[in-house]
Amino acid sequence: MRYYGCKTKLLDYISDVVASLPVKKGATFFDIFSGTAAVGKHFKKLDYTVYSNDFLEFAHAFARCYIETNSKPRFANLKINEDVITYLNDLKGKVGFITKNYSPYGKNVRQYISVENAKKVDVIRETIESWKESKKISSTEYYYLITSLIDAINLVSNVTGTYAAYLKTWDARALKPMKLSHPKIIPSIRENKSFNEDANKLVSKYSVDILYLDPPYNARQFASNYFFLELIAEGWFKKQPEIYGGSGMRPYEHQKSDYSISRKAADALNDLVMKAKAKYILLSYNNEGIIPHEKIREILSKRGKVKVFEKSHRRYRAINQDGSNVVTKESLFLVKVEK
Ligand SMILES: C[S@@+](CC[C@H](N)C(=O)[O-])C[C@H]1O[C@@H](n2cnc3c(N)ncnc32)[C@H](O)[C@@H]1O
Repeated sequence: MRYYGCKTKLLDYISDVVASLPVKKGATFFDIFSGTAAVGKHFKKLDYTVYSNDFLEFAHAFARCYIETNSKPRFANLKINEDVITYLNDLKGKVGFITKNYSPYGKNVRQYISVENAKKVDVIRETIESWKESKKISSTEYYYLITSLIDAINLVSNVTGTYAAYLKTWDARALKPMKLSHPKIIPSIRENKSFNEDANKLVSKYSVDILYLDPPYNARQFASNYFFLELIAEGWFKKQPEIYGGSGMRPYEHQKSDYSISRKAADALNDLVMKAKAKYILLSYNNEGIIPHEKIREILSKRGKVKVFEKSHRRYRAINQDGSNVVTKESLFLVKVEK
């Protein structure tokens, strides 16, 4: 998935540093800013016990599905005679909240998604909700289906990568019919967990071997840039979200991250690091980030000796900007916690 700060291309780099640590088999790896869950998935495959957390609901859905779930759900209570994903893909689309507000249906001008795909999203999301409400599916099954839907929407969204704005002309991808597929569950014998909390409140509740920190490093709030996916994950059933502006954004004040606010970021990191209960803290940060590297060292050194690893990296860039890739430095700060 295209996601700001996604670490898919840096997994070997992170893994090499972690592999050098003297921790036992099945050690706990806590990915407390998990986003797409790419890092947690990698360490789950390597047989670590993974804890995953993100305060956004769609990211939590990924963690519930890809981290906490160790075997494919059976949907035994659903009583349909076919595969659940086939069933959802075959539903007849209907005009609902997404079609009316985010596709060019009727007088609406927003074109995040084609009318046909939006109708599919409406019927599928409503069906998943009704199964949950009538207890035909468990919460594990619910998050499995939400993940499948979000992954599918992401492939046919008419955006440059984030949802801050939609494209004024149709990208070819967005005109293809949306198709859900089964998320690839990673088998594991470990008791992997996922959380949906503010990292600073959660961090002191668990003692772990490795605490991995990948906080936002710039002023872009994830809650606004990915509001559409958040809307899909949260749904619109109990209370219709108030949406506003050209983009159809929903309010996100309650999901603003201090790590994306210059005057608050260093204090937030300091608070998190001081409360951490871990043998090792590993922090990913970019050289273009809000908190200067010297400040990061100062904060981390309060807990032990800091080692820094650096790697040049072609940063993800939304398509249709100037087309070029920007080379940035991704640093990994490692602390063996002693204090
Ligand atoms: C740089 S991204 C993580 C990317 C992730 N490592 C990946 O590979 O996809 C930062 C994540 O932190 C989350 N976040 C920001 N502030 C948070 C907070 N205070 N508590 C929990 N999650 C937070 C954001 O929602 C975002 O998904």
